[in-house]
Amino acid sequence: MSTVIIVGSQWGDEGKGKIVDIYTEYADDVVRFQGGNNAGHTLVVGNETTVMHIIPSGILHPGKRCLIGNGVVLDPQVFFQEVESIKAKGYFQDEAQLVIDPAVHIIMPYHRAIDIAREKKAGCRKIGTTGRGIGPVYEDKVGRRGIRLGDLVHPQIFAAKLREMLPEKNFLLEKFLGEPPVEEASIYDEYMAYGERLGKYLGNTSKILNDSIDANKNVLFEGAQGTLLDIDHGTYPFVTSSSTVAGGACTGTGVGPCRIDAVVGISKAYVTRVGEGPFPTELKDETGELLRREGHEYGATTGRPRRTGWLDMVALKKGVEINGLTGLALTKLDVLNQLAAIRICTAYRCDGQLLTEFPQDVDVLNGCEPVFDEVPGWRCDISKVTRVADLPSEARDFIKAVEEMSGCPVVLVSVGPRRDQTIQIDNPFR
Ligand code: GDP
Ligand code: IMO
Ligand code: MG
Repeated sequence: MSTVIIVGSQWGDEGKGKIVDIYTEYADDVVRFQGGNNAGHTLVVGNETTVMHIIPSGILHPGKRCLIGNGVVLDPQVFFQEVESIKAKGYFQDEAQLVIDPAVHIIMPYHRAIDIAREKKAGCRKIGTTGRGIGPVYEDKVGRRGIRLGDLVHPQIFAAKLREMLPEKNFLLEKFLGEPPVEEASIYDEYMAYGERLGKYLGNTSKILNDSIDANKNVLFEGAQGTLLDIDHGTYPFVTSSSTVAGGACTGTGVGPCRIDAVVGISKAYVTRVGEGPFPTELKDETGELLRREGHEYGATTGRPRRTGWLDMVALKKGVEINGLTGLALTKLDVLNQLAAIRICTAYRCDGQLLTEFPQDVDVLNGCEPVFDEVPGWRCDISKVTRVADLPSEARDFIKAVEEMSGCPVVLVSVGPRRDQTIQIDNPFR
């Protein structure tokens, strides 16, 4: 039996989807534990690209059970679009492959409207959210007034909750944000129809997963976003609204921490960030443009160009610590192919002092200048390499430097988006 958590170690988009797809081969159950359709997880199988926003990335493997745990927030409209699109590609032919927990909170039209309107009103102080209603739905969850999937399948409960909720939401939308109100009857009809179709997926995911672990099965936990976007540990307030770190896998599924065997952090060989907020190693020059071009760094959810920069070991060390990482999966190493020299940030300079720990305060972080080590590049194509031993010595030295500086072993190296462009060093399921 093995249970493995996958988390993003940076600001998201590290390649979690690809690695979850790879590890699903060894898993029986794959579960999403937080976030919603702010996530965009890209899977490349053969020549076909599929982007998953809400359904676990294990779904392309027939026979593997996929679960949406209680910590997730779900937009039914997006969910059904995703269901249709993967079914049309020949995946997810067995409805029993998917289970959704009734405690999942539902994203409503007013959540999306409030998210977008707040960003507009904030102007240059905006967070740069995905506009999917993520912040507002988690606010309602923590405020103990949210609508959960379990409510949606009971028409009377849903109607009562909606009726109670709308005056407050419409007051906010109209009077404070200057937006049109939402309309009760149309929301009721639309969401009741979703409720009827969602009922068949409902199941107690915590019980299912704990039973699986009791039966010596393998469970893979699929994180979304990344450590530095975590609501508690990230670069607050430029974060998302959920617990993206490994601990979130336990609260977001109802599986106890002692039942977890391994935590693999996904890290690019450089760094990207979408949206606003501090980014000490950001490159605004030609090298940054090269990383964006070679890495196709455009958002899988919103299409926005991603900000790019050098690998930041100060930030990655924090990720190793906070998640208790047992291994790192280093992705997109091939994107560095053309570079003659590669930089790795080892410390920050701040007010004349050298910092080796990631500052908690975003204002301090904004004032940090990166201090770099430089290592030679390999200047050749590594995208077809399948064994570490066949990598150029400069690439092997780069991996070794990452291991030494982070204090965490690299268990997988990814050299391209496809399944076969993966070098497995130490499989956490074995
Ligand atoms: P996620 O949100 O962490 O799942 O990552 P995204 O899917 O948003 O972004 C990662 C992008 O990089 C996707 O387009 C992947 O197909 C691609 N990708 C993943 N691993 C590699 C790799 O090793 N090399 C290259 N060139 N692309 C990769
Ligand atoms: P995956 O799972 C990268 C960012 C947004 C914004 C901030 C808050 O694909 O790695 P939100 O809509 O969550 O309130 O936005 O978080 N963000 C992501 N950035 N990858 C993601 O997901 C992200 N999900 C949210 O850009 O800065
Ligand atoms: Mg993504």
